[in-house]
Parts: sequence; C-alpha cells; structure tokens
Amino acid sequence: MKILVTGGAGFIGSNFVFHMLDKHPDHDIICVDALTYAGNLSTLDSVMNDPRFKFFKADIADREAIYKIFEDEKPDIVVNFAAESHVDRSIEDPEIFLRTNILGTAVLMDACRKYGITRYHQVSTDEVYGDLPLDRPDLFFTEETPIHTSSPYSSSKASADLLVLAYHRTYGLPVTISRCSNNYGPYHFPEKPIPLMIANALNDKPLPVYGEGLNVRDWLYVEDHCRAIDLIIHKGKVGEVYNVGGHNEMRNIDIVKLICKELGKPESLITFVTDRKGHDMRYAIDPEKIHRELGWLPETKFADGIKKTIKWYLDNRSWWEEIISGEYRNYYEKMYGNR
Ligand code: NAD
Ligand code: TYD
Repeated sequence: MKILVTGGAGFIGSNFVFHMLDKHPDHDIICVDALTYAGNLSTLDSVMNDPRFKFFKADIADREAIYKIFEDEKPDIVVNFAAESHVDRSIEDPEIFLRTNILGTAVLMDACRKYGITRYHQVSTDEVYGDLPLDRPDLFFTEETPIHTSSPYSSSKASADLLVLAYHRTYGLPVTISRCSNNYGPYHFPEKPIPLMIANALNDKPLPVYGEGLNVRDWLYVEDHCRAIDLIIHKGKVGEVYNVGGHNEMRNIDIVKLICKELGKPESLITFVTDRKGHDMRYAIDPEKIHRELGWLPETKFADGIKKTIKWYLDNRSWWEEIISGEYRNYYEKMYGNR
C-alpha cells in the first residue's frame, strides 16, 4: 500500500508521516511538499533514509509536476494536508490561500481521477462551520452544521471541501473529509499561539493575547488527530465527512497562564493586543459520528498534552530557534510591531 501525503514537512503532516511509518510496516509513504515558509525538511531528518519513505519537493497546484509524481509512483491513497494554514496571514494576503487550498486540491483530485486511487482524503477544519457564541455552551459543530465561514483561510478550506464532495458526486471519486479542531504538539510552527507563547516566554518576551483572550478553541493533541485520519482512510465510508475534536475547550488566556505556570514565568509577560479582524469566538466539535462509526476517541487530556508539548519545545530548542531567527523575524515585526 502506497500513501501519498502532501504537506508532510509541516506540523500535522510530519506527525502523520511518523505515525504511519511506525504503525503500518506494510505501507510506503511518498511525501510531496513545496517547502514554503511553513515546511521544514529538517523535521523529516529521522525518516529521510527509511527505504519506505520518499520525498518530492513540489507545489500541489503545479499540474505537470503532480501528474509526473502520480505517473511514476502510482499511489493507492492520497492524504492532502498541504495548505496555507494561518488565519492572520490570510487576512493580510488571501490570494495564495486560494491558489494552494482550492486550486491545489483540484489538481490533486484531477491526478487521482487520471491515474486512479482507492481513496482521496481531504484534511479540513472545523473553521468551515464559522463560530459559536460564548453564552451557548450547549452548542457544538456536527457534520450537519451549515458551512458559514469568517476568514479568507476558512473560506478557502470550505471551497476545497465543496469541490471534494462535488468530485465524489460528479466523477465518483472515492473521497473522505475530516474536519478537526485546533491541533497542538511537536513541530508546530511558532507563528501559532501555543508554540509562540512557549518560545516568547522562554525568551522573556511579551505574550501577545488578542482582544481579551476570551475566545475558546477545542484543542486536539496531534497524535490523536493522526490516529483519526489513519482510521478514516482505512475504515471510513466513502463520500462522508467526519468531525474530529478533542473535547478540550480552553480560553486563550487560560492557556497562556498555564504556559507561564509550567515554565515558571510571570503572568506580567501577558500583553493584550489589538484583536484579530473577524475573530471567531468559539469552536467546539461534537465527535460522536467518528466515535460511533469508527470507535475513535481522543486519548490525550489537555493537561497532559500541554506538558508533553512544552517538554518537546524545551528538548528541541534548535528546531524552533532556527525558525524564529530567520525570515520569521520580519513576519513577527509586521504582525506584532505596532499592535
Ligand atoms: P502547516 O502550515 O504547519 O504545514 C503546511 C505544509 O504544507 C507545509 O509543509 C508547507 O510547506 C506545505 N505547503 C504549503 N503550500 C503548499 C503547496 N502549494 N504545495 C505543496 N505543499 C505546500 O499546516 P498544519 O497545521 O500542519 O495543517 C495541515 C492541514 O491541516 C492543513 O490543511 C490545515 O488547513 C489543516 N488543519 C490544521 C489545524 C491546526 O490546528 N494546525 C486545524 C484544522 C485543520
Ligand atoms: P490560531 O491557531 O492562529 O487561530 P484559529 O484557531 O482562529 O485558527 O489561534 C488560536 C487562538 O489564539 C485564536 O483565538 C487567536 C489566538 N491568538 C492570540 O491570542 N495571539 C496570537 O499571537 C496568536 C497567533 C493567536
């Protein structure tokens, strides 16, 4: 069984590559990644010499390059993680989000139609459902919740989802979609809040909390997400959407305080900055369907996952220090300089 994983040099994709090589000795993994600012080849160092692993540097929206890889490698299953993934960047400059997240998905599915696959899996997000109000803790996103996006990022992901379902209905492409909540864990790019706050706290720099920090996210440990996708591509029903959530709702401010506590840093580092435009208030997933149909449940409680994550960032300083000392400095100055 040959699995083509796109975006495997990024956060969740790399964790998925490690998971699959470890759990499935009979699977070969082909990784396709354009190595944008968010992709890091050194993340894949430990598997580069594995005979069951191959890496191709290519853009998923480059039809010629993608067709050539499909023709040479003939994958059985495609799992598409490749995306522009940061909401704040999508607010600054939406266009690349449309190209990679929508056109890239279409090119990959065209390649699947042309060369034949047994499954195309789209890694999507709970952000396609928009947000929930803070004063209705009884409400959750189900697979039936209407699409109602807020940011250019979530709109591009929702567009891709609609295209995936259309390719199933129109061409009979055997697709599945997973919509997950916010992931955290090793190899998370330091523009995202959990690694950003850990790195800043370790450097005694301000911890920039948007607005009042009351927004709620449903945090999912990345390994739990990888197990869910593994189950969906092997046992999930074609044409179906599966929500994947951690039942770990946390307010941003409480996470930042917890990080301060774990690292022995003062809460006086917390700085409230101008809110994100169109900032979604609350995400919360009802993962009942994937539990009922595939037996999946999240295994990592936030209290344990955040400790493991902080330990990983302490043990792997060179990985993130190299990132934050490069081009990232310009990004940080642009986004936080006058905020
Ligand atoms: P990431 O930004 O860490 O990694 C994205 C990877 O895709 C990088 O390696 C990058 O080089 C690659 N890439 C970008 N554009 C490409 C292109 N045109 N062609 C080939 N490769 C390209 O993202 P992530 O956090 O690992 O997210 C992975 C997927 O999961 C995305 O589709 C994202 O929308 C989805 N998702 C993420 C979260 C989360 O909390 N991180 C939550 C829900 C859904
Ligand atoms: P992020 O993962 O970027 O966004 P989202 O869940 O909306 O896709 O951020 C998670 C939450 O953290 C979100 O409510 C915005 C907040 N946040 C901050 O407060 N400060 C920051 O510096 C960043 C990057 C995010």
